[in-house]
Amino acid sequence: MVLRPGTNAGALVTLELTVGPAAHGGHCVARHDNRVVFVRHALPGERVRARITETRSRYLRADAVEVLSASPDRVAAPCPYAGPGRCGGCDFQHVTAEGQRRLKTQVVREQLVRLGGLAESEVADVSVSPLPGGPLGWRTRVRYAVDDAGRVGFRRHRSHEVLPVDRCLIAAPAIQDSDVTGRRWPDASAVECAAGAEGVSVLAVPTEGRAWLVAGEPEVVERAAGRVWRLPPTAFWQVHPAAADTFAACVLDLLDPRPGERVVDLYGGVGLFAAPIAERVGPDGEVTLVESDRAAAAAAKAALADLPQVRVVRGRVERLLGRLTDLLDLAVLDPPRTGAGAAVVEALVAVAPRAVAYVACDPGALARDVSTFRAAGWRLAEVRAFDAFPMTHHVECIALLTP
Ligand SMILES: C[S@@+](CC[C@H](N)C(=O)[O-])C[C@H]1O[C@@H](n2cnc3c(N)ncnc32)[C@H](O)[C@@H]1O
Repeated sequence: MVLRPGTNAGALVTLELTVGPAAHGGHCVARHDNRVVFVRHALPGERVRARITETRSRYLRADAVEVLSASPDRVAAPCPYAGPGRCGGCDFQHVTAEGQRRLKTQVVREQLVRLGGLAESEVADVSVSPLPGGPLGWRTRVRYAVDDAGRVGFRRHRSHEVLPVDRCLIAAPAIQDSDVTGRRWPDASAVECAAGAEGVSVLAVPTEGRAWLVAGEPEVVERAAGRVWRLPPTAFWQVHPAAADTFAACVLDLLDPRPGERVVDLYGGVGLFAAPIAERVGPDGEVTLVESDRAAAAAAKAALADLPQVRVVRGRVERLLGRLTDLLDLAVLDPPRTGAGAAVVEALVAVAPRAVAYVACDPGALARDVSTFRAAGWRLAEVRAFDAFPMTHHVECIALLTP
């Protein structure tokens, strides 16, 4: 059967497919008519009947709607909103927790090889580790969309349409127990919930203008790395409750900061990495945190006020890096999903710190930046990967790069 290009062009067409390996983005790869088919809701090795959802000249997208021969990793999705054409938030509700980690391990290795230029043998020991807690009830930050009737929900996969939900099973228990899904939100386009150590803050976000606090405190309290932070509900904080401690310990372990060293913490947020690093470098060392968000930078200044060796600089890394990096020993890079980019990596490499810890929420962006490091003569010394986002295709990697 030949399918012509266009979104939903093949919506009524189903194909029988043998499903191949996982690919980045929450789907697996199959083949039909010499084209790649990205199949959601399937697993490697399965035989499925798949409904085509999008037809392009070089690839198709499809949803497995019937499983003809199931993988041993397949389970019944615990969430009633998961499945073909339904909530776009989770990708792997139909997979065991161990199976999800195997899929993510495969994707991280594949990205490092294909985009990072590493040999298969160099990534053979990369594997995704679990964080404490199960695959449900971990999400401490939830942004609900609001439909035309004022009900909260999540967007369907690759759609603007909101699927109303009465409960999100991956949300932290305090968010599930709040009354957000039971209420109507006629004046909001989104509702944001942040569950900190001392309660849930809820913000209603209008289409235009400022968000307003609906419940809880204007500052969320978080504890990690032996410290307390007070931050606005919208400031970045690691979403999984075990992530902040785990990642801070991992960055310290990989970089091994020594007394008196000079460190930059780029995309530093509220200072999760800057604080423990500052304690290690001590009063003779220096830690410069660069963060563009005004509220996050202010929260970092307040939380790290007892560490005079920390300097918080508000601004964009791309603009400030050139002025900050003379005499640098170590760097942390924790950019948003798009990655740091070649210009930032090249500016960092030019001042030759002895090591860089790269914290990445997108293995594709990490792999592209690793290839820039490698082109400059650096090597990827180690990668540790964590399943900080169970049920979704997302995965966190922390890489050590050395000259
Ligand atoms: C992935 S978060 C990491 C925050 C922090 N390292 C942590 O783990 O809590 C990325 C941070 O970079 C900030 N950011 C985004 N783009 C930036 C830029 N161009 N320059 C500086 N900071 C930026 C965001 O506001 C956010 O706080």
